[in-house]
Amino acid sequence: MKIMVTGGCGFIGSNFVRYWHTRHPEDHLLVYDKMTYAARKENLHDLWENEQISFLQGDIAEMSAVRRACLEHQTELIVNFAAETHVDQSIAGPLVFTDTNVRGTHVLLEVARELGIRFHHISTDEVYGHIEDQHQSTEEDPLLPRSPYAASKAAADQLVQAYHITYGLPVTITRGSNNVGPFQYPEKAVPLFSTNVLLGEPLPVYGDGLQMRDYTHVIDHCSGIEAVLLRGQPGEVYNVGTGEEMTNLEMVDIVLQELNGNPSLIRHVQDRPGHDRRYSMNISKMRNLGWTPAFHPRQAVAEAARWYAENRWWWEPIRSGAFREYYERQYRDRLAGHTA
Ligand code: NAD
Ligand code: DAU
Repeated sequence: MKIMVTGGCGFIGSNFVRYWHTRHPEDHLLVYDKMTYAARKENLHDLWENEQISFLQGDIAEMSAVRRACLEHQTELIVNFAAETHVDQSIAGPLVFTDTNVRGTHVLLEVARELGIRFHHISTDEVYGHIEDQHQSTEEDPLLPRSPYAASKAAADQLVQAYHITYGLPVTITRGSNNVGPFQYPEKAVPLFSTNVLLGEPLPVYGDGLQMRDYTHVIDHCSGIEAVLLRGQPGEVYNVGTGEEMTNLEMVDIVLQELNGNPSLIRHVQDRPGHDRRYSMNISKMRNLGWTPAFHPRQAVAEAARWYAENRWWWEPIRSGAFREYYERQYRDRLAGHTA
C-alpha cells in the first residue's frame, strides 16, 4: 500500500512512520511535512536511506501541492498527523491553527474525495473539553472544545465526519490522549520538565498542578492507529488512551524520581487561560477492536524522561536555538512572579 503520512517529521508522526515501517515493510510511506518549528528530519535519521520511505516538504493547506503529491505517489491512504499542536501557542497566536488544522484538513479531504483516497485523521481528547469527575468521554459525547487548538481540532473532526456522511468518503478518526515518548518537542510538559531537570532549571507548574491527564506512551498510540487502520469501520471514531489519569504534580514527581531531580525545582506559576482541569476517555470501543495499551501512564512518563536523559544530542540543539525566545516569552514573567 502507498500511504501519505502528513506531519511525519513531528513527534507522533515520526514514531508512527518507524512503527508502521517495522511492521509493514512492504508499504511505501511518503512523509509530507511543512517543516514547522516542531518538525525534525533527524527524528527519522535511521530511515531516510530506505527506499520504502520518501520525503516531500509541503503544506497540507496548499491544494495543488497536495494533489500533485498524491498523484505522483499514487497515494491510497492519507494518515493526517499534520497540525499545529501546542495549546499555549494557540493562545498566543491562534490563526495559524485554523489555517492548518481546519483548512489544511479540509484541503486533504477535498483531494481525497477527488482522487478516491481513504482518509485517517488524528484527533485528540481535547475536543471533548473539560470532563467532570467520574465521567469518561465516549465517542458519542458532544464536542465542547475550550482552547483555540481544541476548537480547530473539533472543527476538523466535524469536516471529516461530514465528508463520510455527504460523499461516502472512507474515513476513520482516532482521538488520542496526552502522548509521551521520544522526539517530543520540548514545549510540551513532559519533555519540558525532563529537559529542565537535566539543565537544573525550575519546573513551571501551571496553577495548583492538580489538572488530570492520561499520559499515554506514543507507541500505544501508534498501535491503536494501526488497529483502526486494519480493523476499524469507515465513518467511526475511536478513543485511544489508557483510561487512567494522574495529576500534573504526580507526573512531575515521576520525572524528578527518574532523573534524580530535586523537588525544590518545582514552581507554581500563573495558570494557562481556560486550562482544562481533566481529560478522561473511555477506551472500550478500542478494546472491542482487540487493542489494549501496553504501558501504564507511570511507566510511559518514566520511560520518556529517561529517553531525554539518554538523548541530549536530540534536544540540546533545540533548547539552545529559537526555542529560547519562546521560552522567554512564555515563562519569564511567570517564573518571576511564581507562587510558593
Ligand atoms: P508535532 O507538533 O510534534 O508535529 C506536527 C507536525 O505537523 C510537524 O512535523 C509539522 O511540521 C507538521 N505540520 C504543521 N503544519 C503543517 C502543514 N500546514 N502542512 C504540513 N505539515 C504541517 O505534533 P504531534 O504532537 O506529533 O501531534 C501530531 C497529531 O496528533 C496532531 O494532529 C495532534 O493534534 C494530534 N495529537 C497529539 C497529541 C499529543 O499528545 N502530542 C495527542 C493527541 C492527538
Ligand atoms: O490531550 C491531548 C493533547 O495533549 C494534544 O491534543 C496536544 O497536542 C498536546 O499538546 C497535549 O495538550 P496538553 O495541553 O494537555 O499538553 P501539555 O504538554 O502542554 O500540558 C500537559 C499538562 O501540563 C497540562 O495540564 C498543562 C500542564 N503544563 C504544561 C506546560 C507546558 C504545566 O503545568 N506547565 C507547563 O509549562
